[in-house]
Amino acid sequence: MAERVLVTGGAGFIGLHLVRRLLADGAEVTVLDDFSRGREDSALLEVRDHVTVVPYDLRRPIDSTHLKGDWDTVYHLAAVVGVARAQQRPAHVLRTNVLTTVNLLDWCERHPPRTLFLSSTSEVADGAMALGLSSFPASETVPFAVPDPHAPRASYALSKVVSEALALHAGKDTRMRIARYHNVYGARMGHSHVIPQFIDRLQRGENPFRVYGPTQTRSFCHVDDAIDATVALARLPHADPRVVNIGNDQEEIAAIDLARLLFDLAGCRPRLELLAPPPGSPQRRLPDLSAARRWLDYRPRVALVDGLRRTFDWYTENAAGEAR
Ligand SMILES: NC(=O)c1ccc[n+]([C@@H]2O[C@H](COP(=O)([O-])OP(=O)(O)OC[C@H]3O[C@@H](n4cnc5c(N)ncnc54)[C@H](O)[C@@H]3O)[C@@H](O)[C@H]2O)c1
Repeated sequence: MAERVLVTGGAGFIGLHLVRRLLADGAEVTVLDDFSRGREDSALLEVRDHVTVVPYDLRRPIDSTHLKGDWDTVYHLAAVVGVARAQQRPAHVLRTNVLTTVNLLDWCERHPPRTLFLSSTSEVADGAMALGLSSFPASETVPFAVPDPHAPRASYALSKVVSEALALHAGKDTRMRIARYHNVYGARMGHSHVIPQFIDRLQRGENPFRVYGPTQTRSFCHVDDAIDATVALARLPHADPRVVNIGNDQEEIAAIDLARLLFDLAGCRPRLELLAPPPGSPQRRLPDLSAARRWLDYRPRVALVDGLRRTFDWYTENAAGEAR
């Protein structure tokens, strides 16, 4: 029998890539999304006939009039994402990301899926790494630390720390899987992350080209690799909960070098204007992927230059219609 899957946030970036993969694997897929960020663009319309779409704001409790039936696997990706949103509306980010998790977990208690997958973030480890409580690469066991809990930006990490804890203490009949995504990128990722922002500004001919925090490094993971690891983690047969970093540790890159790679793809060479990093932005991010390698046999396959080319081409063709 086909696997029955619910994907919250399934109209968003990672969500829709996941939905496509699950459909290709023969799953029966329901997408729940409030369309605050995800939307019915051509990419969603391509799968629209093959999925059930439930438009719903998960800040409200779910009852049987909203969701009918039981699911084998629930992927919880719905969240308010992006540094700008956390800076501008920290209370909204904190409330939404906690409430969506609480309401989903309450519903799962009444309709226990075999597996619940929660999307968390590298940002839950950023504080401990910045305070030197652990060394790079960042493992899943670093303590939670928030150097400046009142900073608006901290709202996102705090919401995910609480969500992780809620999930880990929830129903024992469900296999709990928590993924900490590290800088996932690719087509249709919106505009609130550094790669699409650089592409946007290059396409608008920005010169001088601003690079904030030029020496800060990140390890970018193409969404195809992230989806492979996501599905492998959800399908892991073990009963005990698992928390796993998902990312790419092969090509850590400084912001200035990322800009230069994108200049090459755009075929231009604007003058660089090097600026201070945004407040609270970590100097370095590099995941320890030994758990993913050990448990999921995970190997990132998409080289940064190839992934960037695909992303650049996608934004060139689709920039106008992309959701902010
Ligand atoms: N993209 C990354 O690099 C990255 C890194 C770390 C963690 N994550 C996590 O992965 C998940 C997916 O991220 P993404 O990059 O695809 O973001 P996204 O914004 O593209 O997708 C999130 C989706 O959730 C939906 N949503 C928001 N609030 C909702 C609500 N109240 N009810 C129902 N749906 C709601 C949005 O409309 C959107 O479609 C998120 O939980 C995010 O925190 C992503």
